[in-house]
Amino acid sequence: MSAHKKNPYALSVTSPTAWTPSSWRDYPVAQSPTWPDLARLHAVEAELATKPPLVFAGEARRLQDDLAMVGAGKAFLLQAGDCAESFHEASADAIRDKLKVILQMAVALTYASGVPVIKVGRIAGQFAKPRSDDFEERDGVRLEAFRGHIINSEDFTAEARRPDPARLLDAYHQSVSTLNLLRAFTTGGFAALSRVHAWNQEFVAHSLEGKRYEVIADEIERALQFMKACGIDLHDDSALQGVDFYTSHEALILPYEQALTRRDSLTGDYYDCSAHFLWIGDRTRQLDGAHVHFLAGVANPLGLKVGPTMGSDELLRLCERLNPTNQPGRLTLISRLGHEKISALLPPLVEKLRDEGRHEVWTCDPMHGNTFLASGGQKTRRFDDVLSETSQFFLVHQALGTWPGGLHVELTGDDVTECLGGGSRLNEDDLDLNYTSICDPRLNATQSLDMAFHVAEYLQRYSTPLGDKSL
Ligand code: PEP
Ligand code: CO
Repeated sequence: MSAHKKNPYALSVTSPTAWTPSSWRDYPVAQSPTWPDLARLHAVEAELATKPPLVFAGEARRLQDDLAMVGAGKAFLLQAGDCAESFHEASADAIRDKLKVILQMAVALTYASGVPVIKVGRIAGQFAKPRSDDFEERDGVRLEAFRGHIINSEDFTAEARRPDPARLLDAYHQSVSTLNLLRAFTTGGFAALSRVHAWNQEFVAHSLEGKRYEVIADEIERALQFMKACGIDLHDDSALQGVDFYTSHEALILPYEQALTRRDSLTGDYYDCSAHFLWIGDRTRQLDGAHVHFLAGVANPLGLKVGPTMGSDELLRLCERLNPTNQPGRLTLISRLGHEKISALLPPLVEKLRDEGRHEVWTCDPMHGNTFLASGGQKTRRFDDVLSETSQFFLVHQALGTWPGGLHVELTGDDVTECLGGGSRLNEDDLDLNYTSICDPRLNATQSLDMAFHVAEYLQRYSTPLGDKSL
C-alpha cells in the first residue's frame, strides 16, 4: 500500500464554518423519520458513540486506492447485496451464500476480462430505506412508511411502524456479527481461490450458468495445479488465499452515521467507521442538504446515486462539493437511469465531467430505474431490462472514451423468485414461490451469475484498459 498524505476532506472547503461530525444538524435533513421520543434517540446516540468502530480508517484508504485503480481504467468495481438487510435474515448460511455468489461473479468477470475486480458488499449496515411517500395507506388506514429495520418494522400496525431508536443499536450489533463472519470467510480459507468449485451452490450448479462457471473453475484449478507443480508455494500468496472484501451502505440515518464517526489517530481526519464506503441516495443528494454536508466531511470513499432528474451542472457542483480536490477514488457515481432513458441521459453527464477533467468513477446500477409492479402487485424487475441498461452503459462509455468502472446490483445467494427472466427463466406466476425481500426485488444466485457472464462479455468487448488513452 502506498503512503497516504493527509486527506483534504476532513474540513469542508466551501462552507464558511468548520465541519464537525454534528454540523449537518444545521442543514435540512431529507427522509428523516418522525421520532416520537427524541430523548431516547439522544440516549441511543450517546451509547453508540462509545462503541468500537466497525471498520478502520486504513481499510477505507485502501479501498480508495483500489477505486483510484478503477478510475484509471485498470480495475472493475462489483458492488452487490440486499436492497435492505433484514433483522430476521442474518444467519451464517445466508451471509455465506451471498458472499459465495459475489465471489463467483468476480471470478467470472476477472477470468473473462483479465481485469481485477474490487468487491464491495451492500452488507453489514444496509438497513435504512428512503421512501417516495412518508406514509402508507391501506383500506383507509394511514401509517408511517416502512423505513428499514434500523427504524421500524414492515408489519402494517401502528406499533410496528413507530420509529424505535433501540433499532439503531440492533443494527450496529447485527453489523458487528455480519462483519465478523465476513472477515472470517474472506481471510480464513473459505475465499481461497483453490475453493473456487465450492462456491457453486447445488441449485446453481445444475443450471446452464452453473455449468458454464464449472468450466472456468476447472481451468483455474488446473492453472493452480500447474503453478504448484512448478514449485510455486500457493500458501505463500495472500492474493490466492483470501480476498479483500469491503462493506457499504446508504448513509441515510445521520444520527447513526455521526455516532460511528471517529477521528483517525494517524491522519487526524474524520472517518465514518460504520462501513468502508458510504453512498448518498438519489433522494438525499440536495447540494445544500444535511447528507451532502455530512459526507463531504468524512474521508471515506463515497458514492453518489445519479437518477434521471440529475442535470450536468448540478452533478458537477456535487462532485466539486464532495471531491473538492478531484482526488482519484474519492467519489464513485452510480447511475440508475432506467433502460429506456440511459442512452439519452447518461452521455451529457459523462461528457460534462470528462471535459472538466474530473476523476470520478462511473458505475451502473441497472436495478433502481427498472422497477415496476407485476399484475399480482409484487414489485419486480425484468432481467432483460437490467441487462439492457448495463449494455447501454458500456456503449455510452465506449463512445465517449471513458471507463465503465463497475456494476452495482441488488442480489442474494438464495433461490428467490423476485426478478423476471434470466438464468432461472422466471415469469410473473412464479413470483410468489419464494419472494422474501423486505424491499426491492433482488437477482437470485443463478440470475446473478448470468449477469456476470454478460458483463464479462461487455468488458471483453470494451477494448481493455485505457492505458495511454487517459481522459
Ligand atoms: C437503493 O440503492 O436501495 C436505493 C434506494 O437507491 P436510489 O437512492 O438510487 O433510489
Ligand atoms: Co433498492
